Amino acid sequence: MTAPDIYIGLMSGTSIDSVDAAAVSFGQDNLRLLGTHNHDIPATLKKAILGLSEPGIDDVLLYSQTDNEIGELFAQATLALMSKLNITASQVKAIGSHGQTVRHQPPGIKNGFSQQIGNPNLIAAQTGCSVVADFRRADMALGGQGAPLVPAFHKSLFSHSEQVRIILNIGGISNITILYPDGKCQGFDTGPGNMLLDGWCSKNRGEPYDNGGEWASSGTPSIPLLNQLMQHRFLDLTPPKSTGREDFNLAWLEKQVRSYPLSPEDIQSTLTLFTVETIAQGMASISAPIDGIFACGGGVHNAKLISELNLSLSTRNLPEINLTSEIGLDPDWVEACAFAWLAKQRVEKKVGNLPSVTGASKAVVLGGLYLP
Ligand SMILES: Nc1ncnc2c1ncn2[C@@H]1O[C@H](COP(=O)(O)OP(=O)(O)OP(=O)(O)O)[C@@H](O)[C@H]1O
Ligand SMILES: [Mg+2]
Repeated sequence: MTAPDIYIGLMSGTSIDSVDAAAVSFGQDNLRLLGTHNHDIPATLKKAILGLSEPGIDDVLLYSQTDNEIGELFAQATLALMSKLNITASQVKAIGSHGQTVRHQPPGIKNGFSQQIGNPNLIAAQTGCSVVADFRRADMALGGQGAPLVPAFHKSLFSHSEQVRIILNIGGISNITILYPDGKCQGFDTGPGNMLLDGWCSKNRGEPYDNGGEWASSGTPSIPLLNQLMQHRFLDLTPPKSTGREDFNLAWLEKQVRSYPLSPEDIQSTLTLFTVETIAQGMASISAPIDGIFACGGGVHNAKLISELNLSLSTRNLPEINLTSEIGLDPDWVEACAFAWLAKQRVEKKVGNLPSVTGASKAVVLGGLYLP
């Protein structure tokens, strides 16, 4: 029997749209995506997650039950992927399970914390595979933001010996990684990605997202409202910085739009520009000339968002958006593959964070290991 060499990455981001499962094998300098699976999140579970993510609902019982439910869902997602690919547990070296973030509070006056739930003991027991989880807190224990963690993976896979590259992930939150030819790497959250767009669309239309950005395209953006949104305190912070639902949520948005007599589609249109401008502003803060920008995450399917972003980047003399598929990885699977890679780092006792990105006092091995 050959040694197990498959890693499975499990990711459910701030959008809470689905559990992404990716099976990966690693060569010397490359990665092979063996197969993928999207697992639905039941509406009742999504509601519980959203409840736990909001200040005010601090129910330990709901927390503990949801922790188990997400663990079971992640185990089901893994088993569905393994069955689809005809993989047995003996072929899997480890699962990297990000878990579902319910709180993210970076360090400020006090130590920060970040809570990802999805009981890894249940995932190990139900799949028969080793599980790596709790990726963020070792970095935070060293004063880091605990986020973003994907830049180390981007660096290992997407660096170029002559080009300065930006990797842009448009998930619930947007984050960028800047890769320099000499191995230097920066990265930070730029602000909202799809989160406000999804929230407003779901509230006003009962649909989980604005397909292709068509609803936004039917409205007219309000520049005064955009300017007001751009006053958000997070946007003025200098990196290292990270954000979450605590900073950008529907309650905050509703307070902002209250005094503007705008239609819901005008607001969606303005929110699309808000996401665009925060991303473009983050990129414009990089002093080095940028040779290429490569995007991933569900936001790449929002045609309106991408065309507005290209317009904004061109006015700043920045290159237009390409997809990570042009440099070797399908944009829908970069995050899940990143957690497969981080699991490998943990198993091999190699560091996973980049202090230049998170602000931690040193590089450290990330995650706890749970054996079946
Ligand atoms: N056809 C589409 N049109 C518009 N938006 C889309 C489309 N397909 C996906 N999206 C957006 O992508 C989101 C999902 O993206 P993704 O899975 O990358 O986010 P995430 O789970 O928050 O990830 P992470 O936080 O890990 O970056 C959806 O919630 C939706 O907003
Ligand atoms: Mg997702």
